[in-house]
Amino acid sequence: MRDIDIRHAGPADLIVLEQVFGPFQAGVYRRRLELPGRVLIASVDRRPAAAMFVSTGMPDEPEIVEHLGRVPMLHRLMVVSHRRRTGLATHLIAAAEAGLREQGYREVAVGVDLENTVALRLYDRAGYQEWSHGRLKTFREHLDADGNVRITPDECLVFHKDL
Ligand SMILES: CC(C)(COP(=O)(O)OP(=O)(O)OC[C@H]1O[C@@H](n2cnc3c(N)ncnc32)[C@H](O)[C@@H]1OP(=O)(O)O)[C@@H](O)C(=O)NCCC(=O)NCCS
Repeated sequence: MRDIDIRHAGPADLIVLEQVFGPFQAGVYRRRLELPGRVLIASVDRRPAAAMFVSTGMPDEPEIVEHLGRVPMLHRLMVVSHRRRTGLATHLIAAAEAGLREQGYREVAVGVDLENTVALRLYDRAGYQEWSHGRLKTFREHLDADGNVRITPDECLVFHKDL
């Protein structure tokens, strides 16, 4: 049986995050480590295989604050390709929710790209509901053709769940 362990990442984990997810995604987590919240790492048989950032800071988009208040948000969920479709993301989401519940939060939200049908299905299966305020204008971090990190406007759908 697989041994799945989920823990909080710290700066010492950045090297392994880079080995597993590459420099861009590791850079994303490195910047998130300086923000309020937790980077979670899921390991399978002691090998890191998935990560996400659970933000407890003020949401970046004023529409989120207007409709959901200072709700914690799930960001940058990533499972290594050879471990996908084994329930790992579902475990990580459940662990994030349990941690938030322990901290006293009663709701959690996530923004999902309109075209990301896999993630849309994942959050639906995890009991999240789309909010009734339509698409949200947001920003996306990505690499441009020269390998530089770019932040460009984007749109997403917002899902939330009572904890
Ligand atoms: C989206 C992602 C995190 C899912 O991780 P995962 O560990 O494979 O997900 P799970 O195994 O927990 O799947 C849970 C449910 O999600 C849905 N799902 C997951 N992968 C799917 C796929 N390839 N096709 C269709 N549905 C899928 C299914 O409903 C699945 O339940 P089921 O297997 O019982 O049908 C992973 O594909 C990934 O890292 N993608 C790239 C990054 C990304 O898009 N992140 C989401 C940002 S919001």
